[in-house]
Amino acid sequence: MKTNKEPWWKRSVVYQIYPRSFMDSNGDGIGDLPGIISKLDYLQRLGVDVIWLSPVFDSPNDDNGYDIRDYRTILDEFGTMEDFDRLIQEADARGLRIVMDLVVNHTSDEHAWFVESKSSKDSKYRDYYIWKEGKNDQPPNNWGSVFSGSAWEKDEVTESYYLHLFSKKQPDLNWENKALRDDIYEMMTYWLDKGIGGFRMDVINFISKVEGLPDGKVNPGQAYGDGSPYFINGPKIHTHLKEMNERVLQNYDVLTVGEMPGATPKDAQLYTNPANKEVNMVFTFEHMDIDSGPFEKWDVKPLDLVALKQNFQKWQHALHEVGWNSLYWNNHDQPRIVSRFGNDQEFRVTSAKMLAICLHMLQGTPYIYQGEELGMTNVKFDRIEDYKDIETINMYNSKIEQGVLEKDIMRGIYAKGRDNARTPIQWTKDGGFTTGIPWIQMNPNTNEINVDQALDDKTSVFYTYQKLIELRKEHDIITYGSFHLLLPNNPSLFVYKRKTEKEEWLVITNFSDNTEKLEWTSCEVDGLDGKVIIANYDSQELGEQGMNVRPYEALVLAFERRL
Ligand code: NOJ
Repeated sequence: MKTNKEPWWKRSVVYQIYPRSFMDSNGDGIGDLPGIISKLDYLQRLGVDVIWLSPVFDSPNDDNGYDIRDYRTILDEFGTMEDFDRLIQEADARGLRIVMDLVVNHTSDEHAWFVESKSSKDSKYRDYYIWKEGKNDQPPNNWGSVFSGSAWEKDEVTESYYLHLFSKKQPDLNWENKALRDDIYEMMTYWLDKGIGGFRMDVINFISKVEGLPDGKVNPGQAYGDGSPYFINGPKIHTHLKEMNERVLQNYDVLTVGEMPGATPKDAQLYTNPANKEVNMVFTFEHMDIDSGPFEKWDVKPLDLVALKQNFQKWQHALHEVGWNSLYWNNHDQPRIVSRFGNDQEFRVTSAKMLAICLHMLQGTPYIYQGEELGMTNVKFDRIEDYKDIETINMYNSKIEQGVLEKDIMRGIYAKGRDNARTPIQWTKDGGFTTGIPWIQMNPNTNEINVDQALDDKTSVFYTYQKLIELRKEHDIITYGSFHLLLPNNPSLFVYKRKTEKEEWLVITNFSDNTEKLEWTSCEVDGLDGKVIIANYDSQELGEQGMNVRPYEALVLAFERRL
């Protein structure tokens, strides 16, 4: 249980900022660091402890900053290093820590290392990247890139191929190379010495590749082989993370979270067990894959709540008192949760609050993605030209080439496209993000959904998030209690308990448009004895036998434990 030496990040709530879409201070239509500074009071009012900044480094923006040209320079569009230093100071003055994105599976092809690396086979930097010769003028293996097409690109200068698991402007770094690793550790130290609060590590479990890079299995309907068994949680991943920890991280009291697609709870036990000295927590993808087909996210399936509950149960149990969970519904790669697992029409506010309560009552460190606290929704642009995301655009082009109907492609984009999360924050009813033309269109619902409205209305989604953050500070049970799933097979209700020696909390949430009956006997409590901790309806319908759980209702009841 709780010890005096418990790390601060266990009780923290993180707020993710996607700088391009947060707040523009100079009218160029692109969010920037001074814009972020101007909104720190807003974040302080929300109550979060940590800000995770998506990349702010110099970049040609093929993948909006996840293609870094220079790790030690701030992107012009976002401001200057002075702005960044001021951000750290201003954040610190408000008790906020700044966590940065660490993107070291790949760089931009415009990074000086790559420019050198491709210049000649004898370059000192040649081995900083993964180069191979083609086979009969074909790529070295059959892997597909996450952003469509082959994962290999032929470079004409040396007539060799380089690996890029993402876009061809994001060549993969070669972590087998010690000089590269040393350079990365030095760069990390540079930022930590500026006083940042930690790192979110981009696809960090992709950095170690299986020797020989074997062909992957070609799944039905796919043009390329699936290389993921040969680069996800690869052979040296734990060695690399331990080395990074020993060389850099252990010297600082910081938060580290590894973005780890394909990591299972068993993997996460190894990554996050403090004794292993790797990372504090990981971002799992398992709960985000439940509404997708087996081979691609664009293949949309309705949410199977039973599967979602089972998945949370697995993660909650696996990491309890072993490692640590991160908790998230949203980020810059995921569609808006209220449009995905809630109802963004009739029950927008209610379902956004329900989803918040459901997630924040689990054990782990919650991440709020900008706009989630407003119940921001997905967007539907009619024309593909209005989409900006490289993943979406490449997928669209490759499916059009394969003869897939445009309306079927657009259905996938509306449900899962990353631009759903990237429309600018709606500060006022007219938008309020920029005085210029935003780099991507605003969601047309600014009139109804915006920060001004949310702050003025005591019943807004914002205040539910604020309350959840306050509760975390007041009640140990949220941070330390064990997790117990109830009614595992109920397809509409997600009901669970958190327990400590003294207390138990019952969390009741309804993921459906219908009223559902809940019997107290199935929760092993008399609901009428419970004290309401937080709810999303004004009053509750608690009876002797049970309660009616109304559409998207959420309710947390606290009970003293009878020993
Ligand atoms: C994961 C990031 O979250 C995503 O936005 C990016 O496109 C890929 N990694 C590649 O860096």
